[in-house]
Amino acid sequence: SSPSAPAAQAAPPPGFFLERVLSVHHWTDRLFSFTCTRDPHFRFVAGQFVMIGLMVEGKPLVRAYSLVSAPWEEHLEFLSIKVQDGPLTSRLQHIVPGDGVLIGRKATGTLVTENLVPGGTLWLFATGTGLAPFLSLIREPETYDRFDRVVVAHTVRQVAELAYRELISSSLPEHDLLGELVRDKLLYYPSVTREPFATQGRVTTLVETGRIFADLGLPPMSPAADRAMLCGSEAMNADMRALLEARGFSEGANNRPATYVVEKAFVTK
Ligand code: A2P
Repeated sequence: SSPSAPAAQAAPPPGFFLERVLSVHHWTDRLFSFTCTRDPHFRFVAGQFVMIGLMVEGKPLVRAYSLVSAPWEEHLEFLSIKVQDGPLTSRLQHIVPGDGVLIGRKATGTLVTENLVPGGTLWLFATGTGLAPFLSLIREPETYDRFDRVVVAHTVRQVAELAYRELISSSLPEHDLLGELVRDKLLYYPSVTREPFATQGRVTTLVETGRIFADLGLPPMSPAADRAMLCGSEAMNADMRALLEARGFSEGANNRPATYVVEKAFVTK
């Protein structure tokens, strides 16, 4: 190809699909999400992540991003922070429909339901963009086959950062195919730490004090009746891990299902 050929028509580097941005939504000055086309050969399981990014100075600049979209959806969706001096997100935040994005060919990760012993209540604990993999999981019918109940607990600093709040609390319960499962089994528990809100405080505190259980009308968590997935900052993951281990939970991994699994919310730059 000629050196002046538009980048959009260049072949992607090995290991990547070149996809096209379809829509971009800016939630706040720190948070945005976008959708893009999906190669028919790209397969993933709800909860997994993939390397995504942009060509920068002729080279792929990529980071791990959890898939927000469900495996059955036609398009892919991602949720990202915006960091003004972040190598990738300073650029990625400016994408517009029609732009090219690199999507890794292989998805992976530990936040998949087969890494947990089935049954009981599945608790999905997220801070910030750690919500991303749980948006895929709560739109995957198999999640509801494996567990009796699913709780999404999302902690953010400000109310405006409760991304996808409308989707979880209004659209999903009305969804043609998923609505019945969601109405039966899905509970949403948002909390905000730096602004007034009905539920204030870190989710770790809400678990420790038992407020989250009282508010939801559920018994305190136990490894006999509950499973958990953690996806947030290193600090949240560490604190919640300690809380769970103290209650007798043990960590699962690929090919070794147990009562909780962890992954950090990846993109921080
Ligand atoms: P806080 O405001 O008390 O720090 P961030 O935007 O920095 O990624 O944080 C997202 C959310 O995670 C914030 O509401 C923050 O609360 C919360 N958070 C930070 N550290 C912890 C932790 N160790 N345990 C639970 N939540 C935490």
